[in-house]
Amino acid sequence: MRPTFISIEGIDGAGKSTHLAAIRARLEALGAEVTQTREPGGTPLAETLRTLVLNEAMDAPTEAMLVFAARRDHVQQLIRPALARGAVVLADRFADSSFAYQGGGRGAPAAMLSQLEAWACDGLRPDLTLWFDLAPAEAARRRAQARAADRFEAEDLEFFERVRAAYQARADAEPQRFVRLDAGQAIDAVGRDVMAALRERGW
Ligand code: TYD
Repeated sequence: MRPTFISIEGIDGAGKSTHLAAIRARLEALGAEVTQTREPGGTPLAETLRTLVLNEAMDAPTEAMLVFAARRDHVQQLIRPALARGAVVLADRFADSSFAYQGGGRGAPAAMLSQLEAWACDGLRPDLTLWFDLAPAEAARRRAQARAADRFEAEDLEFFERVRAAYQARADAEPQRFVRLDAGQAIDAVGRDVMAALRERGW
């Protein structure tokens, strides 16, 4: 069975946005109706929560509850209906981001996040997760050239080391769902690996 719920993950600056359009184009070339979306966000309410989470000072539990609140609305209003009508959902981040950033980065207990996940997602998980993995120092160099930093992008290398380690732990726990991509390669090489991963899954 081809995966129909595909998420894209990685630390800020790993380059996932660069490859999104090509992934989408490939799925569409094979006849899929693609619903492309992002987190936090994807619905009007979740986009409002995104603005708060990325810009307003708040403590870690508040941040965790807000990203899952946004996810709840996103799942209910957009993702579930899209999957139900047979679309492929291509999500720029999903719950793994919360385990990586709020869990690894901010230190929120994984058990707490799992409870929020159960509450917010009703068991919905991506079928395939493409993880763009890059050393935090290189990601920081790329970000420095790109744009002004939000609350997460302003964090130090140790923060992103913890986020990366949390992604690694998630990938180790679910090797059938995760594909780790070496995002330290040249863009073309990463793109080839992305396409190979899709081909392997029937796309
Ligand atoms: P990102 O996906 O990198 O978007 P952009 O390319 O526009 O910057 O930004 C989303 C940020 O939100 C990113 O720093 C990770 C963070 N985030 C969390 O901390 N927890 C979450 O659950 C999600 C979905 C994102």
